This record gives sequence, C-alpha cells and structure tokens, in this order.
Amino acid sequence: MSRKLLAANWKMHLNLGEALSLTQDILQQFKSVQTGDYPVVLGVPAPFLYPVAQAVMGHPRFAVAAQNLHQEKYGAFTGEISGEMIASVGAGYVIVGHSERRQYFGENSDLLSNKLVRARQAGLKPVFCVGETLGDRVKGSEQEVITKQLLFGCYNLLAENFAQVVIAYEPVWAIGTGQTATAEQAQEMHAFIRSKILDRYGETIAQNTPILYGGSVRPENARELFSQPDVDGGLIGGASLNAADFARIAEALAAV
Ligand code: PGA
Repeated sequence: MSRKLLAANWKMHLNLGEALSLTQDILQQFKSVQTGDYPVVLGVPAPFLYPVAQAVMGHPRFAVAAQNLHQEKYGAFTGEISGEMIASVGAGYVIVGHSERRQYFGENSDLLSNKLVRARQAGLKPVFCVGETLGDRVKGSEQEVITKQLLFGCYNLLAENFAQVVIAYEPVWAIGTGQTATAEQAQEMHAFIRSKILDRYGETIAQNTPILYGGSVRPENARELFSQPDVDGGLIGGASLNAADFARIAEALAAV
C-alpha cells in the first residue's frame, strides 16, 4: 500500500477570492502534470474551509484540513473552533501541533494529546507535527525531543485511532527559512519516527503511517527528499501558495 500524501499549509495567508482562485489554479495545474493519485490535502484558514471544500468536491483525491482545533467538544470558548465544526463543513483532516502553534500559542504535549483525541472523536484525520529546534539539534538531542513529542502527544490514542494519523516531521530550523534538512537527515529522522511507532503500535501501523517532511520544500529539492524510503510526502508551506510550484512538488512525489 502506498503511503504517499501531499499536504499544503497556507497558514494565515490570502483572502477568500485569492483562496478560491488558488484552489482553481491547483486543480488546473494538477491536470496538466503527472501527479499520480495519492491524496492531496489543502490546509486552509478556518474561514475558507467550507468554500474550499465545496470547490474540491468532485475531485476525490483532494481533501481539506483545518490548521487547528479546540480540545473541547463545544462550549463557552469564544473565538475557538471545534473538531465537529470542522468536520461539518466538509474538511477531513486537521493539522495538530504545528511548531508555530507550539511556539506562539504555548501548545504543549498535554494539550496536543487532548486535541488529537478530540480530532478522532470528530472523525478527522490528524496531521500531527513534530520537530526539533536548532538548539536541540546543536545539542544532539533531536531524537530525544521527537520521542517525547510523539510519546506524550499520542499516548492517549488507541491503535485504531493512531492508524488514521499522518505524522509530519518539520525541523523548526527549516520552516520558512530556506534551509532544508538534507535528504539524509530527513531519512534518518523518518526511520527513527517509524521505529518509535513500531514500538508503540506494532509493525502494520508503523508500515502504513505516512510520515511527511516539512520545512522549505521547493520544486528544486522535493525529488531528493521524497526519494528517501521513509519520506512519504511533504507538508508544504510557502511553496504551496503558488499552484505551479505545488504541482511540481506533487510531480516529484509521483515520480519517486
Ligand atoms: P515552509 O513551511 O514550507 O514555508 O517551510 C512548512 C510548514 O510550516 O508546514
């Protein structure tokens, strides 16, 4: 079974008109290049979940992701968005634990483990992000950091729920910096992550879990990263805002 998957993270960019025209451009570009048939997930700002989900309806390989959810089912949490709300507008995925959420919004593993459980209760597939900082890597503690993020983030998830999780390895020092992990660094960490999944959830789940790389993926470096055996796709930030670049990245994933 192929584990390939490509996800976009539009972050806090675009207005509605721009979001819809980017969606149309992506659909168009994907028709004109060889991009295979693995799932493509667009991580869009909350106000665009419904219209973008509507726009990709009828294109079954495309799905929509929220970039965050609240850990409670509903309640007096002004400004927050629940998993049920996200699912109800036609999104199938949710990004959980992006490093920008951890860094700027104080999201820690305790909170993220509750969010992961809530996402599954709402029927959403989580894209769970892990990644070390430059300081962690300089100290040589990157594997320890990732192990903790995985263990404490996912420890509440039963196997049947973890089986619906996509992992994104995003070294913090590579996000939006133009500095990419080398293919060897990515492969080493992805294989390590898969070994941790194996320890906790067993061989079948470990072999079936997509592990995406994120952090300054561009059309120029995508193929080398994706050709690594444990790199199953990408979570693409900046380059996903350009339909042609995103499609070229998709083409690179189809080609390996
Ligand atoms: P980037 O972002 O591709 O712009 O580095 C990746 C991410 O934050 O998911």
